[in-house]
Amino acid sequence: MTQAATSSTLAVPAVGSVPRHVAIIMDGNGRWATKRFMPRVAGHSEGLEAVRKVVEECVKQNVEYLTLFAFSSENWRRPPEEVGFLTKLFLKSLRKEVARLAENNIRLKMIGDLSRFGSAITEMVEFSEEKTKDCNRLTLTIAANYGGRWDILQAMQKALAQNPHLDPDGISEEWLAPHLSMAYAPEPDLFIRTGGEQRVSNFLLWQLAYTELYFTDILWPDFDAAELQKAFLWYAQRERRFGRTSAQLAEGSNPISLSDAV
Ligand code: IPE
Ligand code: IPE
Ligand code: MG
Repeated sequence: MTQAATSSTLAVPAVGSVPRHVAIIMDGNGRWATKRFMPRVAGHSEGLEAVRKVVEECVKQNVEYLTLFAFSSENWRRPPEEVGFLTKLFLKSLRKEVARLAENNIRLKMIGDLSRFGSAITEMVEFSEEKTKDCNRLTLTIAANYGGRWDILQAMQKALAQNPHLDPDGISEEWLAPHLSMAYAPEPDLFIRTGGEQRVSNFLLWQLAYTELYFTDILWPDFDAAELQKAFLWYAQRERRFGRTSAQLAEGSNPISLSDAV
């Protein structure tokens, strides 16, 4: 657990050629459907197929954590019919897939303020997390009604509630990080955004501090194992310096903690 929560700004994490944690903004569903003269929501249904393919490939490649952005805290601004469709699709697929996740030894976690989706979803999420809690092949996290700023603020509220008389000097990464919604996972090594936009859209703001950012024009429903392999190849060629120089890396100073360096 301690190892999982290592901070990339306090210590240099161990780096392998395959990312340990992959975080994806699954974007482009609407455009995929519009291009085919279909309603936008048809793109969301098709996007589920891509989710299956990517989960399967991550298992094959021994990725430990896969985090998917399904619905942002800003997506409530969409037409109510689209929001309603997404909510129903989410509930339906959770009901359909949970047994299969458990069979495949995949632990499901949800992050985001789920209360706004209503009790059918919160109860199903609770059931699914409980059913898969001991699975350890891959941790699949779905972010729904999630926002990076919300995450930092909710962590701050929880941390302060535990220690209301805290001296401001006591505020540190170690003080806040255990309350962030992904405290159980290492920071993402690789971020992927499909659909051509090059922005973070309020995804894991804190956790992306040293993540490698990969953008592709492929629309999410067209993303598959081969596209994921391309992203992994790109990732394997990155030099992850975490503030150090290339020469230091060549000397093999990885991993190292900040306290070792001073
Ligand atoms: C991403 O696809 C899925 C969600 C945000 C739920 P979009 O629906 O944003 O698709 P585009 O960007 O409009 O094509
Ligand atoms: C980001 O996609 C959120 C999800 C994929 C769930 P959006 O399509 O909502 O992002 P913006 O609005 O284009 O930045
Ligand atoms: Mg979009």
